[in-house]
Amino acid sequence: MDIVEIREAVDKAIENYLYEKEPPRLYEAVKYLPFAGGKRLRPIIACLACEAVGSDFTKAIPFAVALELIHTFTLVHDDIMDKDEERRGKPSVHVKFGEDAAILAGDALFAKAFEVASNLREAETAKKILRNLAIMAKEICEGQEMDVSFEEMEYIEENQFLEMIEKKTAKMFEHAAMGGAIIGGGKKEEIEALQKYGLNLGMAFQIWDDCLDVIGKDIGKPVGSDIREGKKTLLYIYAYKRSESKEWLKYYGKEGASDEEVQKIIKFFEEIGAIEYAKKKAREYSKKAIDALEILPESGAKKELIEIAEFAIEREK
Ligand code: IPE
Ligand code: IPE
Ligand code: MG
Ligand code: MG
Ligand code: MG
Repeated sequence: MDIVEIREAVDKAIENYLYEKEPPRLYEAVKYLPFAGGKRLRPIIACLACEAVGSDFTKAIPFAVALELIHTFTLVHDDIMDKDEERRGKPSVHVKFGEDAAILAGDALFAKAFEVASNLREAETAKKILRNLAIMAKEICEGQEMDVSFEEMEYIEENQFLEMIEKKTAKMFEHAAMGGAIIGGGKKEEIEALQKYGLNLGMAFQIWDDCLDVIGKDIGKPVGSDIREGKKTLLYIYAYKRSESKEWLKYYGKEGASDEEVQKIIKFFEEIGAIEYAKKKAREYSKKAIDALEILPESGAKKELIEIAEFAIEREK
């Protein structure tokens, strides 16, 4: 049940579940991103959570696949909204197949997720999980709407930012860990511990992602995209509060900003301490995630979950 084994089982299941072929353009677009790589973090977390409460991870596979399909759907639509032309080191779905096909492929992936999740064996569990997935999907939409609408605002408070990333990203990690524990038949306090783990891990993960957008190299998606799109990240919020001159705002959110202009902002973020601040926040959330696991009995799965929380704030892509 190590991570490699889980990953292989998830990949195999994705392949089996995505069997449709017609109309060809739609299903080529549907299959393109799931097989373009990706870390598979959410399904792996779901399977590990299932094992961490003493069950077999294979029980969680339909749920794990559903999560990855919903995640993939959000990426396809996110790249349209964020105008990003690269994902997982390849052209984004809308670049490769056109926007119409990408919107439909996202919709189909979203629908497929629920079809797949309905394969969960126990009726009561399946009902709970399906409902939770629907609620989660709605929250992602709320978070994404906040993310996009913040682009137009000059300043938002840190707590508005935290609410936004909780919804757009952390909720999926929360549901992955919690759902895995529910499927595994975990005790109430174990389910709650894993839920807390997932939520905090997700917060750390998104804050680190925002740092990578600025300091990353070869991350499989465009660096500096948040700067060109005017995203209100923690880096921006910190820098806004600390800077006397607002000269730099000229380049922030400037579509088609030159590489030099983007570099100026990155250097400025470094000098003012914004990157250090965000990294510190990410580390705090990661620690909270790890602490939440304390009540779980020692196991290989628990160890892997701890390693994932450490990886979230060290990863290079
Ligand atoms: C990207 O998620 C979207 C965010 C929430 C930042 P991942 O970094 O998990 O993407 P893949 O699945 O590995 O490509
Ligand atoms: C990802 O946020 C959130 C969702 C896709 C729901 P980002 O927009 O920061 O993700 P990347 O950087 O494009 O992967
Ligand atoms: Mg986005
Ligand atoms: Mg994006
Ligand atoms: Mg990002």
